[in-house]
Amino acid sequence: MGEKITLSIIKADVGGWVGHSAIHPEMHDLAIEHAARAKKAGIVIDYFVGHCGDDHAFILTHKKGIQNTEIHKMCWDAFLDMTDLAHNLGLYGAGQDILSDAFSGNLRGMGPGYAEMEFEERKSEPIIVFLADKTEPGAWNMPLYKMFCDPFNTAGLVIDQSMFKGFDIEVDDLVNAKKVIFDTPLETYPMLSFIGAPGRFVIKHVYTKEGEIAAVTSTQRLSFIAGKYVGKDDPVMAVRCQSGLPAVGEVLNPFAFPHIVAGWMRGSHHGPLMPVSMTQDHPTRFDGPPRVVALGFQLKDGKLNGPRDMFADVSYDRARQIANEMADYLKAHGPFEPHRLPLEDMEYTNMPLIMETLKDRWVDDGENKAKGSGKHI
Ligand code: F6R
Ligand code: MG
Ligand code: MG
Repeated sequence: MGEKITLSIIKADVGGWVGHSAIHPEMHDLAIEHAARAKKAGIVIDYFVGHCGDDHAFILTHKKGIQNTEIHKMCWDAFLDMTDLAHNLGLYGAGQDILSDAFSGNLRGMGPGYAEMEFEERKSEPIIVFLADKTEPGAWNMPLYKMFCDPFNTAGLVIDQSMFKGFDIEVDDLVNAKKVIFDTPLETYPMLSFIGAPGRFVIKHVYTKEGEIAAVTSTQRLSFIAGKYVGKDDPVMAVRCQSGLPAVGEVLNPFAFPHIVAGWMRGSHHGPLMPVSMTQDHPTRFDGPPRVVALGFQLKDGKLNGPRDMFADVSYDRARQIANEMADYLKAHGPFEPHRLPLEDMEYTNMPLIMETLKDRWVDDGENKAKGSGKHI
């Protein structure tokens, strides 16, 4: 048995350039400086600093396991240092995702998002790291379902005997901090009844039937930590590929359909998730539309060979075109649902303040009250 490798993706938005549209090159250089120092000190084996929109992501390999204090602290310190620089540069929303004053062991509840997996490196270890901006963790539900459960996406479920037994999928209830593992394909239908509500139920881990980790997502909801809207979660995800797992192309294919996700403009609108290259990860139109980049790595002894910019491919041009058309269509609804989020999801925006301000202006309209309605906010 070889020693286990940990892949940690730790991300935060600590200041945007310009507005919430992108990262600043000096911030990126500083992030690299921190990661390079950690490599030199032997804390990490290798690193890549990725970005999507106004979020930085440390992609790190090491042997310290998940939720490791040293690894989390290294990123926390980097984000604090970057926050200082963001203030100096006058960047927008400097320190946005720093929701706590003091570091106490790990990043749980602190603001930055993280997705980590520990595994024994295979002879060849292809991994895709996805980074998204202007959306929330549930955005990964549909693509993950397609990768691991849908034979119309993943031919391996039909053609590769080793995949016939399906996968175990952990779904977290973010409201009640509970989790359940669904045995797919047997429990695919009950699982769908939950993951079809991605604002609350999110796929956190995917395992093989032998208990090997296949995929992990970041599940932090900033608004749930802060109790109000403080910026969007902008989740990350890592998926191992090939040899009994979905092929690289099966992992990427779900993004050819730009599905509708929550998180566009002010975290309060639905929009299509547009797959883009690393050179196009700057959401500008109406602070969006939401977007995702895919970074491909071949791991070797923990070394990150990569990234390959997987969505820098003409075969995603049509998805981008459809996403732009869907963006036009949804945007034309202006402040109306379903472009704007439903009322219950507006609980973590400015909506409760507006309701509070107007609460004395509402008078009885003389009609019968509908049972069970009007209780969202
Ligand atoms: C940030 C985001 C943006 C902001 C919007 C308003 O993740 O999605 O759409 O919510 O630019 O920002 P403020 O309220 O800071 O002016
Ligand atoms: Mg921002
Ligand atoms: Mg962001």
